[in-house]
Amino acid sequence: MSITLKNKIVNKKARIAVIGLGYVGLPLAVAFAQKGFRVLGIDTDAHRIGRIQNLESYNADVSNACISRITRQKVFSVSMDFSLLKDVDVVIICVPTPLKRKYTPDISFIVSAVKSITKYLHKDMLVILESTTYPGTTEELIKPELEKSGLKAGKDFHVAFSPERIDPGNKNFVVTKIPKVVGGLTKACSQLTGLLYSQIIQNVHQVSSCRAAEMTKLLENSFRIVNIGWINEIAQMCNALGIDVWEVIDAAKTKPFGFMPFYPGLGVGGHCIPEDPLYLYWKAKHYDFSCKFIKLAADTNHNMPAYAVTRLKEMLGKSFKNARVLVLGVTYKKDVKDLRKSPSLSLIELLQKQTRVDYYDPLAAFVKLGGLDIKSIEVTPATIKKYDVVVVAVDHSAVDYDLIYRNARLIFDTRNVYKDKTDKKIVKL
Ligand SMILES: NC(=O)c1ccc[n+]([C@@H]2O[C@H](COP(=O)([O-])OP(=O)(O)OC[C@H]3O[C@@H](n4cnc5c(N)ncnc54)[C@H](O)[C@@H]3O)[C@@H](O)[C@H]2O)c1
Repeated sequence: MSITLKNKIVNKKARIAVIGLGYVGLPLAVAFAQKGFRVLGIDTDAHRIGRIQNLESYNADVSNACISRITRQKVFSVSMDFSLLKDVDVVIICVPTPLKRKYTPDISFIVSAVKSITKYLHKDMLVILESTTYPGTTEELIKPELEKSGLKAGKDFHVAFSPERIDPGNKNFVVTKIPKVVGGLTKACSQLTGLLYSQIIQNVHQVSSCRAAEMTKLLENSFRIVNIGWINEIAQMCNALGIDVWEVIDAAKTKPFGFMPFYPGLGVGGHCIPEDPLYLYWKAKHYDFSCKFIKLAADTNHNMPAYAVTRLKEMLGKSFKNARVLVLGVTYKKDVKDLRKSPSLSLIELLQKQTRVDYYDPLAAFVKLGGLDIKSIEVTPATIKKYDVVVVAVDHSAVDYDLIYRNARLIFDTRNVYKDKTDKKIVKL
């Protein structure tokens, strides 16, 4: 292990750069700065850089006061200038990893970030990838790209993968409270990376390779997509059999071992669960291996908005075509502002083609759908009374569900917020 870099890390003298200041990168950069490391945040988005330079956070998990404090303490700065990397000891990459087409990874953001690092790579630097990606990315893509500098990975500089596991909006598990998995190109790379994260996170778990660390993250996310897909299928089956799926899940979870509850809904959203497992699906295909569970779960979840429309048609009968539908909640999950891949938006798009639909979301005043800006309605007793059906798509805490209940004619509850109501006004998913 490099003694110099090791000493710098232990003495908080290592300069750290975080590339990509999104949901993952910004809280991570802030966590290191709060521990006294000098952190440079780099992003290609001028708007984001400008906001932070104005001491303004765009992330609900990082406060303006925190940005002001660490900036004043001169432990945090941001820039779009990659040449600043020449003075940095550790670079952590947190750029997006979306899908290009259905089931095909788009790793262009990683490639672009790594090319920028290669220009300023120097001896003893530690480069860590946190973006979720397919097993092999660090060794097959990042290592050769960085070695174009003329330096040798594992000898002149260090490379590792350490998946981010952040859950935006989760106050109990902020980045410093979530155990960190690390896997380096060499044992020394793993040890240095483990040492680095142990400065901000108590529980660091080392695995034997970058691939094992990459696969760990995809196992976690595939576990979620498969179980959500499975419970969505069970929900449809229970409806066909006339059984309340929510009651069944509540009963099953009284078993103190061997069962873990997952809940049905309109599908999966955000940047991770709908996309990351498909990186694994794609990679496995290169080995003639078909991840049937992932594909089936992805398709089942993807079809949930269409299933919800079918249920609405059943509820409203002939009046569906001229009905007025209100969708409650458009973000991809409870109490989070993120709209990416939100299944609720897919539901609205499907409904727009067949009937009249509005939405209400206290966390999203506007959404863009089909190139048009759509505005959230105001919730009042009078407005709610206008709708033939209210669909509870997301169970945000800030919604007055009693007011909705008192004034709605019919409610399609996809989140079981009306768990205790048994009257005919409530139809559960
Ligand atoms: N959001 C989550 O809950 C979450 C959780 C765990 C892991 N992840 C993974 O972490 C990675 C980042 O996700 P995110 O949600 O933070 O994405 P994000 O879109 O919120 O942020 C990514 C940032 O990277 C910037 N960027 C893109 N290309 C760049 C480049 N070449 N150089 C510098 N900056 C660049 C973008 O401008 C953006 O600000 C993804 O791989 C994601 O799958 C996300």
